[in-house]
Amino acid sequence: MAQLFNSIHQKLFVQAKSKQSSRVKKQESLSYAYGSQDTMDLLSYAGLEESETYVVIDDTYIRTLFISGFPYIASTGWLNMLINFNHNIDISYHLEQVDAALALPKLTRKITELESTKRAMQRRGAIIGSEITDPLESAVALKNKIQRGQEKLFQISIYIALSAPSLSELHKMTTLLETVLAARLFYTKIATFQQLEGLQSVLPRAENLLAQKRNLDSSSAALTFPFVSSELVQDGGILYGVNRSNNSLVILDRFSLHNANSIVFAQSGSGKSYTAKVEILRQLMQGTKVIVIDPEREYEQLTKSVHGTYIRLSAHSKEKINLFDLSITTTDAHDDNLATHVQDLTDILSLMLDGLSAEEKGVLDKAIMHTYKGFGWTLTKSLKRKKDFPLLKDLHKTLKTMKQRKLASRLEKYTKGSLSQVFDSQTNISVENRLIVFDIKDLSESLRQIMLVVISNFVYNQVICRSSADILRQITWL
Ligand SMILES: Nc1ncnc2c1ncn2[C@@H]1O[C@H](COP(=O)(O)OP(=O)(O)OP(=O)(O)O)[C@@H](O)[C@H]1O
Ligand SMILES: [Mg+2]
Repeated sequence: MAQLFNSIHQKLFVQAKSKQSSRVKKQESLSYAYGSQDTMDLLSYAGLEESETYVVIDDTYIRTLFISGFPYIASTGWLNMLINFNHNIDISYHLEQVDAALALPKLTRKITELESTKRAMQRRGAIIGSEITDPLESAVALKNKIQRGQEKLFQISIYIALSAPSLSELHKMTTLLETVLAARLFYTKIATFQQLEGLQSVLPRAENLLAQKRNLDSSSAALTFPFVSSELVQDGGILYGVNRSNNSLVILDRFSLHNANSIVFAQSGSGKSYTAKVEILRQLMQGTKVIVIDPEREYEQLTKSVHGTYIRLSAHSKEKINLFDLSITTTDAHDDNLATHVQDLTDILSLMLDGLSAEEKGVLDKAIMHTYKGFGWTLTKSLKRKKDFPLLKDLHKTLKTMKQRKLASRLEKYTKGSLSQVFDSQTNISVENRLIVFDIKDLSESLRQIMLVVISNFVYNQVICRSSADILRQITWL
């Protein structure tokens, strides 16, 4: 036992001694350090003048105020108005969590106090105003929330340091600030005779020397956060830009949203195409398949750089899309494919034939079904076998056999006339590449509109026939 005691004593003694010697050494080194000039000396001002309500440092007048009264109800981002206050101000706020075990008895006492005041007033027959009911209600609500663990209690101090080149300017700014805050029912007070403590509390040293604290619950404390814009960073997203209010990165995965479509509006030359191209590149890096319909021939260079497929569609181009083409790799999940496709086809043909009446639409629908049937396609079970698709000229033939001469002759423009090459063969475009660009610049104005619909139909068909998660990864650029 004695031995143990001895060893402990020795340890403590040695420790104390070594501490003492290190302290002496430190002091010695400090006294040397005082002799030379360091960065602090260079940065520091020569001195400061302290008055009751301001300090003067290097001809700058600085006044510290604190927020003494908060409104009963405050809106989100109210501190924003201070940030937008167009003068030279520094804002500093201190936030400390209060232990619930300490806070609860105090709250209970406060509630009892308010309750007894209320009762006394009732007995006197006085009218009970909001000065009693408001604090009482909020204290009871807060107590309940703290007890349930829904809210925490915080102590907050908000200090504002105004700086101006002259005293009159400082007075003016103070009045202005007080007015701006009072309009929102926030009341300020100048830290009279405490300007030095005030200044130190404003400096980023996490020292709350003024100690002007107010109690707030978590949700009210959260309202004091000055930047209401939140961060938008999603895993697996791509960079869209920088949030200008807080300089955070905006990283968004558009496919995680309910609707992945987007449209870009901006003035000419402001970078719409550039933005679209940057997004395409970033999407490609994420493994997304991108299909572009390009009416301006802007994407040729981009396609070359990433070895994409560039399809230049024109009235005479070799690349063809057959209107009757439909996705057949699906199994039973898309049995109504043919039915929807016939509908789409009727719409496209209506566009090609400059509008159709309801009656003509009915006839065309029948003719299309007949044509499909002639090639072995029916609405029910045919989708599982690979067969040839009919062509536009087959529809023309059907119309003729159905004695629909008028419709047949209107369609002749696309089967025998000037545009006969556009839809005269089976689809020979492969959509296997990760980037496919359809260039429709060479198409005439009337054909361009039709091709836009044909391509979007074709793309849609190709996309739904892929059973993977890619299905929804469709981007529409307008
Ligand atoms: N973020 C950017 N960084 C560098 N250059 C850019 C940026 N955004 C746009 N540009 C350049 O600005 C010019 C105009 O951009 P862009 O062609 O994308 O505009 P636009 O909005 O598509 O115009 P228009 O309406 O005429 O099609 C281009 O030369 C482009 O390279
Ligand atoms: Mg552009």
